[in-house]
Amino acid sequence: MAEPRRQVLGIFVPRTQVVIVGAGPAGLLLALLLDQAGIESVVIESRSRAYVEQRVRAGLLEQNTVEVLRGLGVAERLDREGLVHRGIQLRREGRTRHIPITELTGRELTVYGQQEIVKDLIAARIARGGELRFEVADVSLQDVDGTAPRVTCLFEGVRTELQCDFVAGCDGFHGISRHAMPRGLRREYERVYPFSWLGILAEAPPSTDELIYAWHERGFALYTMRSPQVSRLYLQVANGEPVSEWPPERIWAELQQRLASDGWSVNEGPILEAAVTPMRSFVSEPLRHGRLLLAGDAAHIVPPTGAKGLNLAVNDVRLLAAALCEHYASGSDTLLDGYSQTALRRVWRAQEFSNNMTTLLHRLDGTDFDRGLQRARLDYVWHSETAARSLAENYVGLPATPDF
Ligand code: PHB
Repeated sequence: MAEPRRQVLGIFVPRTQVVIVGAGPAGLLLALLLDQAGIESVVIESRSRAYVEQRVRAGLLEQNTVEVLRGLGVAERLDREGLVHRGIQLRREGRTRHIPITELTGRELTVYGQQEIVKDLIAARIARGGELRFEVADVSLQDVDGTAPRVTCLFEGVRTELQCDFVAGCDGFHGISRHAMPRGLRREYERVYPFSWLGILAEAPPSTDELIYAWHERGFALYTMRSPQVSRLYLQVANGEPVSEWPPERIWAELQQRLASDGWSVNEGPILEAAVTPMRSFVSEPLRHGRLLLAGDAAHIVPPTGAKGLNLAVNDVRLLAAALCEHYASGSDTLLDGYSQTALRRVWRAQEFSNNMTTLLHRLDGTDFDRGLQRARLDYVWHSETAARSLAENYVGLPATPDF
């Protein structure tokens, strides 16, 4: 049917239940959760498959996130290759405070690169026969406040219109979905930090088996990893800092200084990738307008210090999938009506925690008073089990429930 229409009109009009805009972790996960419940969706993505599979992002998964992936049967490689972590280290000019996360919370974390999750989700989507289209251009959302939304786009040079019941906007901070909500109905909250992260991926076996978050007079540094052979490290740098100002010798010298500890050093090796990322806290409310539902970075961004971005996206999608399942199974919209408020509860918890970790650990250009407060907060985490437990509980992720 589609082919003759395409030739005659330059258009074909497929119908589906949910159009998902964006094939990042949020969009792909939603497609698989819906498919598991017998709900049909089409995922459209503006980038190529190679681009989304190679885009380097953070990689620390809460137990909540791992459980969602296991529930979908897409965690086989994650369970094989993911690195289980039961603690982290805070470092402050040579001194280390170990935070025994699992001992304090009973829960654990897994290090597994976001692009590896994306590869696993794409493979599962294709194996399960679901619609997934890359390099879709000129996407526009229509009639999302009615009962018959439409998504128009350009696919393989052909103008296409998709009719659906719901549109899920999972297209990230720079995506178009959020902007399909009338500006007057939307409220934005934002903080842009006066520093960025220079992140590198290096072919060097990590010389630590736990992540190290370092406060240092010269600026923050983070030691994390991807595998027993590959390290990932970050440095606090000035906003707008060009990567070209950071040749490998300078990067390693700075990391050695900021992460230094007696009798120990950072393993060095060839740098495979280096990029500067600005630090931003951002929330756009609400997450729903009529039949348009936002999830993940399309609606909120956290600075990476708390490692919450991907985990928050997965939480949104867990709640959104449950709401859509209820709609199709029983005709009730109770969960859909509550989706925005429910998801935003954890979004704001993560905003507070991410802001807290960021202002605890970075070099601040504020007043002497601000620096005094920061010292007091560091001292408190250092010396109090209660403070360490609070950090651990937030870092590992509060248990997932139907209303949080
Ligand atoms: C990472 O592994 O890339 C990572 C881990 C923890 C963070 C941020 C990034 O807080």
